[in-house]
Amino acid sequence: MRSLEASQYLLRAIDALKRDVVIITPDFRIVAANRHAAEKWDHRLIGQICHLFIHDRDAPCDDCPAVQTLRTGKAVVHHQSLTMVSPIKKGICFPIFSGGRIDAVAMVDYDISRMSGLEEKLQRANTFLNNILRSAVDPFIAADMSGKIIIFNEEASEVTGYAESEALSALYIWQIYPGEGKAAARNVMRDLRSEKFGGRGKLKRYHVDIIGKDGRPIPISLYASLIYEEGREVASIGFFHDLRERLRMKGELEHAQIQLMQAEKMASLGKLAAGVAHQLNNPLGSITLFARLMTEEYQLPDAAKADLERILADAQRCRDTVKELLEFARQTRQQIQPQDLNQALARTLFLLQNQTLFHNVRIVRDFDAGLPPVRSDVQQLNHLFMNLILNAAQAMAGHGQLTIRTVFDAASDTAIIEIGDTGPGIAPEVLPHIFEPFFTTKEEGQGTGLGLSMAYSIVENHSGRIEVDSHLAHGTTFRVRLPVVGPRTKGENGDGSNFNPHSGG
Ligand SMILES: Nc1ncnc2c1ncn2[C@@H]1O[C@H](COP(=O)(O)OP(=O)(O)OP(=O)(O)O)[C@@H](O)[C@H]1O
Ligand SMILES: [Mg+2]
Repeated sequence: MRSLEASQYLLRAIDALKRDVVIITPDFRIVAANRHAAEKWDHRLIGQICHLFIHDRDAPCDDCPAVQTLRTGKAVVHHQSLTMVSPIKKGICFPIFSGGRIDAVAMVDYDISRMSGLEEKLQRANTFLNNILRSAVDPFIAADMSGKIIIFNEEASEVTGYAESEALSALYIWQIYPGEGKAAARNVMRDLRSEKFGGRGKLKRYHVDIIGKDGRPIPISLYASLIYEEGREVASIGFFHDLRERLRMKGELEHAQIQLMQAEKMASLGKLAAGVAHQLNNPLGSITLFARLMTEEYQLPDAAKADLERILADAQRCRDTVKELLEFARQTRQQIQPQDLNQALARTLFLLQNQTLFHNVRIVRDFDAGLPPVRSDVQQLNHLFMNLILNAAQAMAGHGQLTIRTVFDAASDTAIIEIGDTGPGIAPEVLPHIFEPFFTTKEEGQGTGLGLSMAYSIVENHSGRIEVDSHLAHGTTFRVRLPVVGPRTKGENGDGSNFNPHSGG
């Protein structure tokens, strides 16, 4: 038996409890309450019928835990429902037996409400944070330390091609890095842990490739960090930018810069060449004139005559070169008219194909019959095609296949002319120089190196473009694009006269 003293201490302890303890009889009369509960109800609790006092109801609520305890004789854990208000909100109900019969039911609040409130708050905060991260405007991925992806926002889906559900269920972070295994992801983790890229646990503006769902590499700029809990790494998160568009634009800009530099170089070399040509023209004229006079007016021995003929022939060669130079620098008159390019090509071929150099060359013509006329100078066109076709035949040393194609590209309103050969191709170290005046790989006396620089300047003059595709041991194709209804070419006058204002003559 418990001593009186012990019983009194026990009662005091229950009273001192900072939780509600309420005892009701099987007829729902509240017979006792500890201080905590009594004070809450202004000490009006004792003697009241529970359902009447609290709910103003004649009968107990259907889901009353006390009813259940009375019926089953067992303890019932109860969570407050919407339809029921008991003296305690959430807690436990248990029977008090006396002689095998339930004498009363004790209801004790054990404060799960406060605990679950915390849980709920935590859960809400979590959802909120998750939503913030998922709605980030940049692609965002978070992974736990096993590499399992735990957050994957819509932008990350857009860049990588993986759906969010797919990424969350079946993707590991190391799978989005290139190469077999986890090596690339390990490198990123190593740099993340180092001090080098923005401090320990951080990566700032870190350039790396990831692999999209379609297997293609995507260059990105990554901002990542490690998340620590009590000094332990628990997750990694990363925001990133897709760099593809930026790199493409950078490439285009560099290409345009190179073209601009090339154009400038050609322009200044052209001026230089024109200046030299003019200086040479007059003395060459005198050499030719006086050499001819000597052969005609003096009785010279045959040997001397032969020497003078040599002088005349070489002076003529010099004059031809000067003429080419002047042509190159566009210092001659030009006549711009709509021209049929197929016809111009056929004419050039007709002139060339009977030369010995072409005897063993198979010529394939693939002309687009629907090619619209191009406003151009026919002489310049002949020159352009002649140079490209001669180069092709020379490259093949007279053996191989020459393919001449014309195509109309309606999308860009351009006529495309391709001249392809099956020659040895152009070495990569030679390629950047081929359009420079006087650049030649041919033996001395075989080529002046002016052919392509002239071609370049003619195409330029027609607001076109010239490109080259070359594969060593397979051949070379020069591609010329000329606008069919383009802007007026330089030097074209509205009144139909064709005087070039830059002309020196
Ligand atoms: N179809 C081609 N295949 C291979 N190399 C080529 C081809 N066309 C041009 N080249 C290279 O480009 C160089 C420059 O050509 P370009 O026509 O300007 O001068 P060239 O042919 O050497 O001399 P020129 O045309 O004045 O007689 C050539 O020497 C050659 O090395
Ligand atoms: Mg040439």
